[in-house]
This record gives sequence, C-alpha cells and structure tokens, in this order.
Amino acid sequence: MLKRILLVLSALTLTLFFLSAASAETPASSSILVAYFSATGTTRSVAQKLAEGLHADLYEIVPEEPYTDADLNYNDRGSRTSIETDDPSCRPAIAGELPDLTAYSTILIGYPIWWGDVPRIVSSFVENVDLTGKNIAVFFTSGGSGLGSSMKHLEQQAGAGNWLEGKRFSGHAGTEELTAWARSLGIEP
Ligand SMILES: Cc1cc2nc3c(=O)[nH]c(=O)nc-3n(C[C@H](O)[C@H](O)[C@H](O)COP(=O)(O)O)c2cc1C
Repeated sequence: MLKRILLVLSALTLTLFFLSAASAETPASSSILVAYFSATGTTRSVAQKLAEGLHADLYEIVPEEPYTDADLNYNDRGSRTSIETDDPSCRPAIAGELPDLTAYSTILIGYPIWWGDVPRIVSSFVENVDLTGKNIAVFFTSGGSGLGSSMKHLEQQAGAGNWLEGKRFSGHAGTEELTAWARSLGIEP
C-alpha cells in the first residue's frame, strides 16, 4: 500500500515538474515590438495597423512635454521643433517607463520625418533602450521626403542592433501592405 502511495506521489511530482517546465518555456505574447512616435497621428495610424497585422506589441514614445501646434510650426525658425532640430545634442524627455525589450527579437521603429531627419525624441528612445542583438527596421511617414540619413543617425546613436531597412508609408497604408513589407524582411507574425 505504502509503495503504491509513493508511486502515485512520485508520478504527481513528475507531472508537476513537467508542467512548470513547459509553462516556463511558453514564449512571450509577441516577439515583435512596434515602437513609434507620432505628433499628429499619421505615424500612429500606420504603427497600429502594422502591430495588428503582425500580432505585435505596441509602444508609443510619448513626450513628457507634448508638442503643441506652435511647437510643430516648421515655418517658424524659433518654434520648439526648429530649436530642437538645430541642436544635434537635444534629447527631449520621454514620459513614463521605457519598455523592457528582453522578450523581443525584432523592434520596428516608426516616426515622422522632420526636416529630412528623425525627430530628436526618437534618438532619446534608441539611446535609452538596449538594442543589442535585436533585428530593427524603421518605417516613417512624411510630406514626401525619403529616409534621408534618419536611419543611419539612429543606428549610430543606438550603437547596437542589426538594422535592416527603412521604408516610407502613407498614412493610408493598409495592414496587408505593411505586413508584406515586414515579411519581405523575414519578419513573420
Ligand atoms: C516640424 C516638422 C518638420 C517636418 N519636416 C518634413 C520634411 O522635412 N519633409 C517632409 O516630407 N515632411 C516633413 N514634415 C511633415 C511630416 O513628416 C508628416 O506630416 C508626417 O506624416 C507627420 O506624422 P505624424 O502625424 O505621425 O506626426 C514635417 C512636419 C513637422 C511637424
């Protein structure tokens, strides 16, 4: 009888061991993070559709001090964004916590083009997270400008990661177009 109880107990222990091992190996909900900054909503819409199509997690880079319409006035050389652009060392503060990137193998970074370059707050982001070993691709929206040196600058500022590509999307880009781009880089949902 005692032998039988011991047998049942050891079988139970083994089952519990394998169950806990299996749950420890369960992958995170997504291994892709879409991180983006958007001042007027265009890049946000693209980022949301991209994350939806890839079943990716979404992180918005939110400025501690929101950009007002006056701040965004590129016709005013004295506006906040003009001043930030003129100062390569400017790193606007990001509100809230930065994401923990440990669980992600791929980070897609989205931003609007400002004066042919990347907004300084996106530099604040790449300089304050650890992109070591991550596959990274950038996507951007603009009034017509191309990538310029924006990705090259981010890559230099991050100093880590495997930077794949940068692509412009219109604010009306659909989920299919966006996921097709990701797939072309070997990034699968
Ligand atoms: C300060 C500022 C500078 C900009 N500079 C450029 C530029 O150099 N080239 C361009 O094509 N569009 C430029 N734009 C337009 C934005 O890139 C475009 O409207 C973008 O889609 C806005 O994205 P968002 O709504 O996510 O902020 C600029 C916009 C702002 C506010």
